[in-house]
Amino acid sequence: MYISSLSLSNFRNYSAEKIEFSPYTNVIYGDNAQGKTNILEAVYIFSQGRSHRAKSDRELIKFGEDFAKLSLEFHDNERDYKSSVRLIKNGKKNIKINHVQITKLSMLMNYLNVVMFSPEDLDLVKGSPSARRRFIDSSISQLYPRYLTSLIDYHKALDQKNSLLKTLKFKGVKSDVMLSVWNEQLAIEASKIMKYRTDFTALIDEFAAKIQKEISGETLKIAYSPGIKTEDIDKSTIFKYLERNQRREIELASAQVGVQRDDLHISINGNEAKVYGSQGQQRTAALSMKIAQADYIHHVKGEYPVLLLDDIMSELDINRRMYLSEKITGKQVLITSTDTDLIESTDNTQLLHIKNGSVIREE
Ligand SMILES: Nc1ncnc2c1ncn2[C@@H]1O[C@H](COP(=O)(O)OP(=O)(O)OP(=O)(O)O)[C@@H](O)[C@H]1O
Ligand SMILES: [Mg+2]
Repeated sequence: MYISSLSLSNFRNYSAEKIEFSPYTNVIYGDNAQGKTNILEAVYIFSQGRSHRAKSDRELIKFGEDFAKLSLEFHDNERDYKSSVRLIKNGKKNIKINHVQITKLSMLMNYLNVVMFSPEDLDLVKGSPSARRRFIDSSISQLYPRYLTSLIDYHKALDQKNSLLKTLKFKGVKSDVMLSVWNEQLAIEASKIMKYRTDFTALIDEFAAKIQKEISGETLKIAYSPGIKTEDIDKSTIFKYLERNQRREIELASAQVGVQRDDLHISINGNEAKVYGSQGQQRTAALSMKIAQADYIHHVKGEYPVLLLDDIMSELDINRRMYLSEKITGKQVLITSTDTDLIESTDNTQLLHIKNGSVIREE
């Protein structure tokens, strides 16, 4: 899968710009604060419906403007796509793919697949569980729209349950039939979510272990560590488990168990990586996991995702850089850097020099 052109109007520090991409390596270079990451961010929005870093869509609209428009052309083995995103300052965002209006996020999934890799991802192993859940969710949801639907429904029910728990605690009530209604909803979705996460983790474990072995010779193991600890993950077992926690949850006025507590357990040579891993081992494991994420998408879909590497080369030592360069050869990658020397160039490499929200044309 590859993207061929991106048009930006009033997006971040871009006024009006059309960028054509090579289906292989695209090096987006320039000084700090010129608009390199903004390009990756724009592409990412077409895959996930939102920015990887903005808190609100308003931030994306150029200062002083009322709307922004982005267009992207991309291609997979089957067909060509034209997609557009319109952002309005005081209105709802509008996304279209091949002229079809996208009315909910799950409709957008499984068109454009991307893997974004920024320096913060190097903290995937030692960081908080929420970062690992985001890793899981962004991988699965871009292939399985139904997973995203379950996740959204689960969190809606969880919000309802949490406000009910607060009310019950306030009233000093010990149990409530509505709590079971929410637990039933949660159990239905949790069961589906856990099945997807179990399957995903098995594949990521296999792919990442292979990569880690190749980079450092170490044995990496990634295991699913669910927040719901039951033998079976069918909805009735999960429901009973949630129900058993009623009293404690009312006491604490918030949900204590559920897939919102899921995590990945990562070990290197048999020791928990978060606790015992050296900085370098943790980073290598994170790199292995991110490359494995792309391999996972390729495995499920038969298409390699577009790789968005944000300033990552300067964070890696020469060995890891060489490994990554080799892995991405022949695939489409957009890679930002302030220093082009860090990136191996071939005849297929396209250089894009970014200065103050414009692409500088040069020979
Ligand atoms: N809504 C906006 N309107 C106008 N300019 C914006 C907006 N949001 C961000 N910018 C500008 O965009 C620039 C940052 O762009 P970007 O993050 O792409 O930089 P970068 O080239 O990746 O820099 P670095 O090398 O430091 O990561 C900054 O100059 C910032 O002021
Ligand atoms: Mg940047």
